[in-house]
Amino acid sequence: MEKTIIFTPMEMGSITAKNRIIRSATNDHLGNIDGTVSDAEITMYDTLASNNIGTIITGHMSVAPDLTLRADEAQLSIGDDSFIPGLRRIATKIHEYDSIALAQISLAGPKGLNPFDFNTLTTTEMEQIRDWFIAAARRAEESGFDGVQVHLAHWYLLQAVLNVDINHRTDKYGGSDENCLRLPLEIVEGIRKSCHKDFILTVKMNAHNTLSGENDGDLLAYYATGLTEAGADLVELSGADFSRKDRKAELYYLEEARKLKNRHPEIKMSLVGGIFSKDTIEKALEVTEFASLSRTLLTQPDFITRMKKGEESKSRCIHCNKCFEIFATKYERCVFGPVIPKLEETFGK
Ligand SMILES: Cc1cc2nc3c(=O)[nH]c(=O)nc-3n(C[C@H](O)[C@H](O)[C@H](O)COP(=O)(O)O)c2cc1C
Repeated sequence: MEKTIIFTPMEMGSITAKNRIIRSATNDHLGNIDGTVSDAEITMYDTLASNNIGTIITGHMSVAPDLTLRADEAQLSIGDDSFIPGLRRIATKIHEYDSIALAQISLAGPKGLNPFDFNTLTTTEMEQIRDWFIAAARRAEESGFDGVQVHLAHWYLLQAVLNVDINHRTDKYGGSDENCLRLPLEIVEGIRKSCHKDFILTVKMNAHNTLSGENDGDLLAYYATGLTEAGADLVELSGADFSRKDRKAELYYLEEARKLKNRHPEIKMSLVGGIFSKDTIEKALEVTEFASLSRTLLTQPDFITRMKKGEESKSRCIHCNKCFEIFATKYERCVFGPVIPKLEETFGK
C-alpha cells in the first residue's frame, strides 16, 4: 500500500485517535419515539465502529428536557438523566473497537418540531438553554462518551445565534460579534468546568456566519479562536449549504479551512463536506488534521475498511442527495438501500 497518513494516530484533546477518519454526525432517525436508544441504533454503531473509523460522532441529540423541542419524533434525547443507560450502550459499542465516541449535542430551535425564534426569548430563557447544553455534556460523560460535539452549524439554534444577520437580540446575547458568540462561548466554558479535564470538547461550525457568506473570514477566525481559547479541542468546519452543492462538487469548504488554518495553525481542525474518495480524504488532510465523512458512510459504512484493503478508492455515493429529501420526510435511507425496518416501523412505508 502506498504511504498515506490516513491511518496514522492523532491527538484529539488528551486522547489519541487511531486514525484521521471521523464519522460526521448523522441523524439516523432510528431512535424510539420516547427519545430512547433503539437496538437498531446499536447495530448501526457496531457496523460503523467495526470498520476502521477512528472517531464516531453520534447523530445530533436534543439537549431539551421537553421532547417536543426535538428536531423530529425519532431524534435521541439527552435532556434527562433517564436517557443515560441507553446512551451508555452506544458509547460501549463504539469503544469495543477502540474508536473515540463523541455525542453531538444540539437544540433544533428554528428547525424543530415546534420551531421558535430565539430572538423572542428572554435572557433567562437563553441562560436556561446554556444550562441544558452543559447538563447534556455531563450526561454524555456519565454515559461513557469520550467527549461531545456542540452543534453550531446547519441552521439549528446555535448557528442562528452565531449568524450576525439573523441575531437581532438587544441583550448580552446579540447586537455585536462578541455578543453573538457569548452563548456558544458560555456553553463551552461551562462544559469545561463541569466535565473531567480529559473530556473531549469539539464544535461543528459553519464556514460562513453571515447571510451573504461574503468576506466573513475574519468573523470565522474570531469565532473559532474564541471557542478554542475557551476550551474546544477541535473545530469541525462545515456549511449551511452542504445539501445544495453541485453533484460534481467536492471538498466544499476546503478554501475556508485553508485560510483559517494559515491564520491559526494552533486550531486543530477537521473538514466535512464533499469528501467521497481516498483522494479527497488525502487533500483534506493536507490542510486539517482529520477528515469527516457522512454520506459516504451512510451508503457504505465499510468504505474505510475497503479503502484500507485497497478494494475501493471512491465511494459509490452519487451525491444525488435523495438522503436529504428523505431526511426531510424523516428517513435516512440511501437510494442503494437496504430498506431499514425500524424506519418503516416509526414512520410507515
Ligand atoms: C441523513 C443525514 C443526516 C445528517 N444529520 C446530521 C446531524 O445530526 N448533525 C450534523 O451536524 N450534521 C448532520 N448531517 C450533515 C453531515 O454531518 C455532513 O456535515 C454533511 O452531510 C456533509 O458531509 P458529506 O458530504 O460527507 O455528506 C446529516 C447529513 C445527512 C445526509
